[in-house]
Amino acid sequence: KGGKVIFSGIQPTGVPHLGNYLGALSNWVKLQRNAAPEDDLVFSIVGWHALTLPQDPKTLASSRSDLLATLLAIGIDPNRSVVFHQDDNQDHTELAWLLSCLTPVGKLRRMTTWKSRLATSRNANDESEVDESLLNTGLFTYPVLQAADILAYRATHVPVGEDQTQHLELSRDLADIFNRTFKSKTLMFPLPCQLNTPSRRILSLKDPTSKMSKSSPDIQSRILLTDSATQIRAKIRAAVTDSVVGITFDPVGRPGTANLLTILAACTDEEAADVARRYEAKGHGHLKADVVDALEEMIKGPRDAFERLRHESAYLSQVAKDGAEKAKARSNITLREVRTRVGL
Ligand code: ADP
Ligand code: NA
Repeated sequence: KGGKVIFSGIQPTGVPHLGNYLGALSNWVKLQRNAAPEDDLVFSIVGWHALTLPQDPKTLASSRSDLLATLLAIGIDPNRSVVFHQDDNQDHTELAWLLSCLTPVGKLRRMTTWKSRLATSRNANDESEVDESLLNTGLFTYPVLQAADILAYRATHVPVGEDQTQHLELSRDLADIFNRTFKSKTLMFPLPCQLNTPSRRILSLKDPTSKMSKSSPDIQSRILLTDSATQIRAKIRAAVTDSVVGITFDPVGRPGTANLLTILAACTDEEAADVARRYEAKGHGHLKADVVDALEEMIKGPRDAFERLRHESAYLSQVAKDGAEKAKARSNITLREVRTRVGL
């Protein structure tokens, strides 16, 4: 008791890429390593969130299981951290309903994620018209489900990227609204704060003006945690750079080169500008060869572990079952108290 409660989640929408790993998942492993004994770590594979966009059921089912294998492969230890499938714990959806009844519609309308959804569903011929058939209610309310994910564990710290700042603010707002609406001697929810872990934004290998993303149709634009040494080499060799002679770290003028330096620096746990100094007089070929070696060195362990684990379905089921039980043991306490406070 008295330690931090750290919560984070990830959607089961395909094999994580290098951006997901360096920007999010590797931080989970670092947090687990650096946590104090009294800290509680809760990591969730958030299947319900994935359904806000159309998913092929077979693909979703295998992604769901593969993501658990991936988390174990990169070093999430189920004996230290609670790792589980969100959809195995009904407390998330139950709390989400309750919180939605405390959420002003206007707050959700102000979410930038929602606004960008609206923007992409404007009618081509009438900009003021939104094609509502392209929007589902889940896309509108998923920040409330996210708040429930966090508050079900009375999380105090949430490691997420800057793109999630507004959603975390909503979680705090909802925690505060609940605390004030259903006041009691003790505070129901601590206000969760954003844990800013040093994260690196990795760019597309094909278009280094945009981030590496699984939504790009070009598979050459990203390195997957399951990529073989051969695939890594081919993708890095074909990575877009520039024709300037020598290597400098210039994210604005030379984004492709800077991206390779960022990747190399992440692998060796250095600053990209420091790495750049070692390559000043060298060419892109040299830099790329070293990026390939460093990536292979970093990915090999997790990749081999993943390939072994993904076929151990009985083990994965057991880990998922144990994780769900541990998660429920925590969230049931919250939900029991919440229900009592609201009068149900
Ligand atoms: P994608 O953009 O591939 O769909 P998600 O939006 O599912 O990835 O993001 C999952 C996590 O990975 C988030 O915490 C996000 O901040 C992080 N992330 C995604 N892409 C990158 C990237 N290119 N660089 C750094 N972090 C990233
Ligand atoms: Na995304």
